[in-house]
Amino acid sequence: MTGPAPLLAIEDLVVDYRLSRRVRFRALKGISLDVKPGECVGLVGESGSGKSTLGKAVLGLAAPESGRITFDGEDITHARGATRRRLASDIQVVFQDPYGSLDPTMTVSEVLAEPLVVAGTSRAEARTVVADMLDRVRLPADAVHRYPGEFSGGQRQRIAIARALVRRPRLIVCDEPVSALDLTTQATILDLFLELQRETSVSYLFVSHDLGVVRRICHRVSVLYQGEIVESGPTAAITRAPEHPYTQRLLLAVPVADPARQAERRAARLGLG
Ligand SMILES: Nc1ncnc2c1ncn2[C@@H]1O[C@H](COP(=O)(O)OP(=O)(O)OP(=O)(O)O)[C@@H](O)[C@H]1O
Ligand SMILES: [Mg+2]
Repeated sequence: MTGPAPLLAIEDLVVDYRLSRRVRFRALKGISLDVKPGECVGLVGESGSGKSTLGKAVLGLAAPESGRITFDGEDITHARGATRRRLASDIQVVFQDPYGSLDPTMTVSEVLAEPLVVAGTSRAEARTVVADMLDRVRLPADAVHRYPGEFSGGQRQRIAIARALVRRPRLIVCDEPVSALDLTTQATILDLFLELQRETSVSYLFVSHDLGVVRRICHRVSVLYQGEIVESGPTAAITRAPEHPYTQRLLLAVPVADPARQAERRAARLGLG
């Protein structure tokens, strides 16, 4: 395959969870995928298929048994300590739950400035960056003095996105970032992700259980099923003509507005067994 070198490359990754001294559970059974600069790669699959585990492995929160993760050509499979701290400016994360991921006792200004101050940016400079970020994620300038608890779910997710962006990362692992939001808010937050990608060329590894969400935002998609990738390719191809029966079922689960088509698809889904 030609094209730009991948920013993130995952090769044959195996991750186990240790359930007891003797028992292990293999959550990822040899996963390979890559994400190119400025690309959004979706990872879809049902609950428990291993999506978050893959995100955790990239972030250094789950230790792989074997396989390799490279970022911009550097092997980061077992990166710890100082290397991991350095990587934090390049690889960031947005989780599903903005309630849990934002410290409720810090003002928005403190939440956003903290990663910068930790990295050695002066407070004055941090203030400028924070103001710029609020503008980019379309939050009012006076948001800086308020606490995360004073915002709606969608606004809170904007704060979490701004927080991920302040250090100008090259990759953001997005783990179900819109799943807790209502459909209208989902759409506006997905638009924000798209717009930020156009402006900054940031790459996304975009985890979702919803093929409809992925269809809207991802260039390519990999379908995970019980710790293995069963299908991957350009989003348009996968969502138009999925080959794997599991992907076909996932697609049939995407809601459609038209009740007649919905009934047709329900029949098709049942037919698939
Ligand atoms: N800390 C852990 N210890 C043991 N098993 C775990 C742990 N975390 C996850 N698992 C198991 O690993 C598998 C994959 O979990 P993971 O969280 O990656 O799934 P997921 O695809 O993100 O699911 P969801 O859509 O529900 O978030 C599941 O069977 C889960 O029970
Ligand atoms: Mg998950």
